[in-house]
Amino acid sequence: MIDLADPGIYSNGIPQDVFADLRGRQGLHRNEGPDQFWSVTRHGDLIDVSRDTTTFSSEVGHIQIYDIDPDALDARASMIDLDPPIHTVLRRLVSSAFTPRHVQDYREAIRARVVDCLDRFEADGGGDWVHAVAAPVPIGVICDLMGVPEEDHEYMIELSDHLVAGTSSEPLSPDAYGNTTELRLLPFNSPAAHGISEYARKLGEERRARPTGDLMSKLIAAEVDGERLTDSQFTNFFRLMIFAGNETTRSAMAHLAVHVAEHPDQFDRVRTDPTLLETAAEEVIRYSSPILYFRRTVTADTELAGTPLAAGDKIVMWYAAANFDRSVFVDPLRFDVGRPKQPPNVAFGGGGAHFCLGASLARLELELLIEEIVARNLRFDLPSPPKFVDSNFVNGIEHLEVRLK
Ligand code: HEM
Repeated sequence: MIDLADPGIYSNGIPQDVFADLRGRQGLHRNEGPDQFWSVTRHGDLIDVSRDTTTFSSEVGHIQIYDIDPDALDARASMIDLDPPIHTVLRRLVSSAFTPRHVQDYREAIRARVVDCLDRFEADGGGDWVHAVAAPVPIGVICDLMGVPEEDHEYMIELSDHLVAGTSSEPLSPDAYGNTTELRLLPFNSPAAHGISEYARKLGEERRARPTGDLMSKLIAAEVDGERLTDSQFTNFFRLMIFAGNETTRSAMAHLAVHVAEHPDQFDRVRTDPTLLETAAEEVIRYSSPILYFRRTVTADTELAGTPLAAGDKIVMWYAAANFDRSVFVDPLRFDVGRPKQPPNVAFGGGGAHFCLGASLARLELELLIEEIVARNLRFDLPSPPKFVDSNFVNGIEHLEVRLK
């Protein structure tokens, strides 16, 4: 029996054999565990689902495997859980800040964060890479964009960690962070979601009184059809940005350190040929596939890969499976910093309306980190294997001890 909802399957990273088996089967795979859903594991099928928001909705059901009540769906809805047209309206409020051209404006600020973290890491002779580099860089970058002051960045990491089951060592009591909301109404059923909303509300009030040009100032003043965002639209927006901009890039940066340790020759190639920086970052992202899956719900009877689907069926797109589809990627288990950019990997989604808003930003962050690592000619040794996040949703690394050689 293969139950892809079981987090245990991912405790050592992506279960390559399981996914290879499923990709080779006819049609879609019906999950064999207590959760009933169809698994999409091939690259082409995943792209078809991603690009058809009418048949495969993000709004009709939950975007994670487990179902939640309609009032809980409403309470947590942000652009990622909504379909066009409202999805498009919300996304447009911030999309100009994330275009490939615009993110170049953040280049030097990102580089400064990378340099600072690596300087300290080198001075310490190594340590927990996640704590020292992979976590602080992305949270620093997204907090800068949103306008969260530096002294609160650690708090954002803490709250965001609590959202992913198992990322935090401390289980939370239901009333943590002053929460009084029923847990089922909160994203990830976590009181930390309440903490994030409260923080957003406070910061929003400050920015309403004194706008500073950051995204929070923009969002608090934004209007949809002549109306300001509702309280929950505003706080859910903030939570999505903090979570999405943080956990994902952190995972990719954590996996990068594993590759630096295991494939020093590949990074020597980048050092001698810096034109490989872009494809090297892309390969790290493909290979890490930080988001394992997102779910859609079928809105009308249809068919995919020869499998008949009924309205209401759950479709789970396994990005981590499609990124190793050998009908698309030559020798997919080989880590190759020169792998061509086409066909694109699907770590940021298979295209269409929900394609990752932060893709250009994440790529730039990765490129700058790789550039600094190779410029310093850093060599890593891993005294113990990575400790993975206990999750069926993110391919995260919670702890990674790195020694500098
Ligand atoms: C390596 C890093 C990252 C990965 C692997 C990643 C992955 C993804 C994936 C798979 C999706 C869903 C795509 C779909 O449903 O078609 C997504 C959506 C999203 N991502 Fe990222 N992401 C990363 C970094 C970021 C960053 C840095 C931000 C910062 C703003 C961000 C913000 C978002 C947002 C707001 C959405 C929802 C977009 C929508 O629904 O229209 N992501 N991301």
